[in-house]
Amino acid sequence: MPSTTYVQSHKGAVSNTTMLKDVLAAQIPALRAEIKELVKAHGEKVISEVTIAQLYGGMRGVKALICDTSLVEPDRGLILRGHPINELTQCLPDDIFFLLCTGRLPSTAERADLQRALAERADVPDYVWDVMRALPADSHPMSMLVAGIIAMQHESVFAHEYAAGTLSTDDYWIATLEDALTLLARMPGLAAGIYRLRFGKGDLIPYDKKRQWGANYAHMLGIPDPSGEFTNLINLYLVLHSDHEGGNVSAFSCATVGSALSDAYYSVGAGLSGLAGPLHGLANQECLAFVLDIRDHFKGVPSDEQLVQYAWDKLNSGHVIPGYGHAVLRATDPRFTAFHEFGKRVCPGDEVFQIVDKMFRLIPDVLKKQGKAKNPYPNVDAGSGALLHHFGMTEVSYYTVLFSVSRAMGMLSQLVIARAMGYPIIRPKSVQTDWVKAQCK
Ligand SMILES: CC(C)(COP(=O)(O)OP(=O)(O)OC[C@H]1O[C@@H](n2cnc3c(N)ncnc32)[C@H](O)[C@@H]1OP(=O)(O)O)[C@@H](O)C(=O)NCCC(=O)NCCS
Repeated sequence: MPSTTYVQSHKGAVSNTTMLKDVLAAQIPALRAEIKELVKAHGEKVISEVTIAQLYGGMRGVKALICDTSLVEPDRGLILRGHPINELTQCLPDDIFFLLCTGRLPSTAERADLQRALAERADVPDYVWDVMRALPADSHPMSMLVAGIIAMQHESVFAHEYAAGTLSTDDYWIATLEDALTLLARMPGLAAGIYRLRFGKGDLIPYDKKRQWGANYAHMLGIPDPSGEFTNLINLYLVLHSDHEGGNVSAFSCATVGSALSDAYYSVGAGLSGLAGPLHGLANQECLAFVLDIRDHFKGVPSDEQLVQYAWDKLNSGHVIPGYGHAVLRATDPRFTAFHEFGKRVCPGDEVFQIVDKMFRLIPDVLKKQGKAKNPYPNVDAGSGALLHHFGMTEVSYYTVLFSVSRAMGMLSQLVIARAMGYPIIRPKSVQTDWVKAQCK
C-alpha cells in the first residue's frame, strides 16, 4: 500500500485536531527560542563532571540529559511539572498526560477533548490479535505487549509522512503527537487483551466510549468491580507510575531510539523492552512474591518479632528486602504512601495488605540497623502488588504491563517534546579502559 494512501485513510478515521495540539502549538515557538538563547548565551557553562566511578557505575548522578516533564527529588520524590505526585492522586490519568505534555492540567473542555481524541483512536486493530495469538502460549506478557506495539508500527503517521517527504522539521512533533495519541489510546485495549488472552480469561472486552481512558482499562481487564474501587486503583496506578525523569532505563531507551527519528511505536517498544528487566519494571512482581512467601511461611500475618527475624534471616543470607531502598529517594516514596492510604481505606482486613503494612512499620528500622541501604524506606513497588492481589489480579507476571500502560504517558510526552524542541540524535562519547588507565598515570 503506498504510504500516502494509508495516511489519508488514517486521517479520515479520526480528527487530527485536538486542543492538546493547539496548546502545544502555541507554546512551542517560545520554548524553542528560550532554549536556543540559553545554549547561545551559556553553551560553554559546565554543569556536571564525570568520575571514573560514575563511568563504570551506570552514569549515576551525571547530569547529561534534559527532561522537562518530571523530576525526582531525594526528600520529596516524584514531581510532575512542578506538582508533587501526592497532590495529583485525585487526577484522572488522561489529565496527567496533558500535564506532562503542556506543563499544566487541562480545563474541563480540554479534558473532554482529549478523552474524545483517545476514544476515537482506542480500537486495537484485528491484525494485532492475530499476532498475539500466533505467539507461544507461554510468552511473557511484556513480550506480547512489545510485539503488539511493534506490529502497529506500520500505521505510524510520522514514518509515513517522513518517507513521503511531506513533513517539515518544524512539524515533526505534530506527526509524533498524532502517533502518541493513537498508541496511548490503544495501550489499555492491547494490555487488557493480553491479560485476557494470556491467562485464559475469556473473550476480549471492547473499549466503552462512555468511559474515560483509565476506567476503560479497568473495564476491559474484566475484573469484577461492583464497588468501583478496582477502577479507582487502576486510575491511581496509572497516575503514580506515569513518569520518572529521563534517566531511568525505559525513558532513556525510548529517548535514544526516538532521537534517531524512529517513530513512537519503535521508541516506546524499545523503552518497554527495558521496563521488562528485573532491575526496572519487573521489581513489583518480586515484591508481592516476597510478601506472599511471608504469608505462606507463617500461614498468615506474622507477629512483629517473627517478621523482624524473617527480615534478618533474609539479609544475613545475602538477600535484599524487595520494595525497600531507592537509587535516588532518601525518604518514603510518596507513591508508596498513596497506595498505603488506598489499602488502609479499601482493604484493611486483607492479610496480604496487613503484611505490607507491618513491613512498613518494621523494615526501615531493620535496614537502618544493618546500615547498608542508603534509603531504608519503601519504594513504589512495596505495596501496589498487594492491592492488585486483593482484587483478584494474582498473575504477577502481568504487573509490568500495567506499569507500561502508565509509563507510556511519560515516554510519549517526552518524545513529543524532544521532537518539538528539535533535540538531535543522542550520541555520547565512549572511551576505552586503556584510555581511562592513561588518565590515572
Ligand atoms: C532499589 C535498589 C536497586 C537501589 O540500589 P542502590 O542505589 O545501589 O542502593 P544503595 O546505594 O542504598 O545500596 C547500598 C547497599 O545497600 C544494599 N541495599 C539497598 N537496598 C536494600 C534492600 N532493600 N535490602 C537489603 N539491602 C539493600 C545494597 O544491596 C547495597 O549493598 P552492597 O553495598 O553490599 O552492594 C536497592 O535499594 C534494592 O535492591 N532494593 C530492593 C529491590 C527493589 O525494591 N527494587 C525496586 C526499585 S524501585
